[in-house]
Amino acid sequence: MGQRIVLIDDEARLLRALKRALESDGLEVAEFLDPRQALAAVRASPPALVVSDIRMEGMSGLDLVATLRQERPEVPCILMTAYSSVETAVAAVRLGAKDYLLKPFELAEFTGAVRRALAQPAATGDEAAGDPRLVGRSPRMRAVLDLIGAVAGTDSTVLIQGESGTGKELVARLLHRRSARADRPFLPVNCSAIPETLFESELFGHQKGSFTGAVGDKPGLYQEAEGGTLFLDEIGDLAPASQAKLLRVLQDGTFKRVGDPRSTTSDVRILAATNRVLREEVEAGRFREDLWYRINVVEITLPPLRERAEDLGELVGYLLERFSRKHRRGPFTVDPALLAHLAGHAWPGNVRELENVLERAVILKRSGALHPEDVPLARGKPATVPELPPGLLPLDQTMDQIEEELIRRALATTGWNYSRAAELLGVTRQNLHYKLKKYHLRKENHG
Ligand SMILES: Nc1ncnc2c1ncn2[C@@H]1O[C@H](COP(=O)(O)OP(=O)(O)OP(=O)(O)O)[C@@H](O)[C@H]1O
Ligand SMILES: [Mg+2]
Repeated sequence: MGQRIVLIDDEARLLRALKRALESDGLEVAEFLDPRQALAAVRASPPALVVSDIRMEGMSGLDLVATLRQERPEVPCILMTAYSSVETAVAAVRLGAKDYLLKPFELAEFTGAVRRALAQPAATGDEAAGDPRLVGRSPRMRAVLDLIGAVAGTDSTVLIQGESGTGKELVARLLHRRSARADRPFLPVNCSAIPETLFESELFGHQKGSFTGAVGDKPGLYQEAEGGTLFLDEIGDLAPASQAKLLRVLQDGTFKRVGDPRSTTSDVRILAATNRVLREEVEAGRFREDLWYRINVVEITLPPLRERAEDLGELVGYLLERFSRKHRRGPFTVDPALLAHLAGHAWPGNVRELENVLERAVILKRSGALHPEDVPLARGKPATVPELPPGLLPLDQTMDQIEEELIRRALATTGWNYSRAAELLGVTRQNLHYKLKKYHLRKENHG
């Protein structure tokens, strides 16, 4: 018997036809109408390949891919999807699916894709992407690179500022990698995700029984990062009480675990980032001035992508190569008209947005020359008022449509980063989630 394939589709007739095609190719096929049963079979005995529909009852193909990536990363997966949901196919490949097939397809296309997937060595996914670099030779990026070179080897606290997606975390990782602490932990902490009441215990740890819910001793992030670097991301979102607690440890380098009267000293380097302009937060009274001084010893401000269009060519080349390697696609060439097309865009999501549109193009185009039409961009001005429809439309319904459209664009721009999207829209995350439910907006339907 040949290699074993797990085949999943909730359409019984198609399932039978595909099974026959694979069997006549000498492959062994276990077919399933229910993705959950298929997953159980994969867990019991990993096959050489999983081929699955995307839209199914019980479990979507995307959930299946995500689960497989986690539990059985060595098992490759191909997804089948209708042409109308090509963005879902892109999302699937991003999640780690090896390839996708657009329905309807010829049986020969199907067996060809299966054979290719079986012939390729196990994908290494993100690992193959290599060490990330900070790309750009514009004067402003050169200045940033110089500054990184100057402070990386020191223990200096650094405040990294810049709009969303400009590379703040990347810079923090570079600073750590180039420091004497490189072989010690680099621990990112999302300050906006830690509730005010838990901040102290998360950062400094707690002793058993020190508060309701403290069932055991727990080391804090400071202890976990000992000898290394703590990256305080979104520090501008820190609540006032948490700011006070952070100030204390930055002032004298000691802290107390919650419930423990003794002080502990620590050797941790602090890097912080924010996409707000922290000086303005200080002026508005939302951020403590004394804490700002402690953090802002060295300031690195990353320029928005639209202010360094001369870096686009190098960035595009670098990212195309990275995504080609990741998805085993390419080689690509870049139509000069594409660069002009990209240079005309405002890039509210900066390099992350560029990554999103290029990864999509790599997945869909597979190889060859990339033209402007291969890289559609969200249009610049979101708040245009739509034409009046011919019939009567109640105002509240129209407002809903506009709202839904704005939410879609914010999500597309931010690559479905809920915090960023909520920020762009000027609403809270809870409010955004409420509206996602209201408009039935789900990531899997929209890539
Ligand atoms: N100059 C650059 N060269 C290469 N890749 C970059 C560059 N800047 C950013 N990137 C890439 O863009 C993506 C977003 O960068 P990063 O996560 O560091 O942004 P950020 O400023 O922390 O954004 P946010 O404020 O949304 O958290 C990452 O995948 C990063 O590797
Ligand atoms: Mg970040």
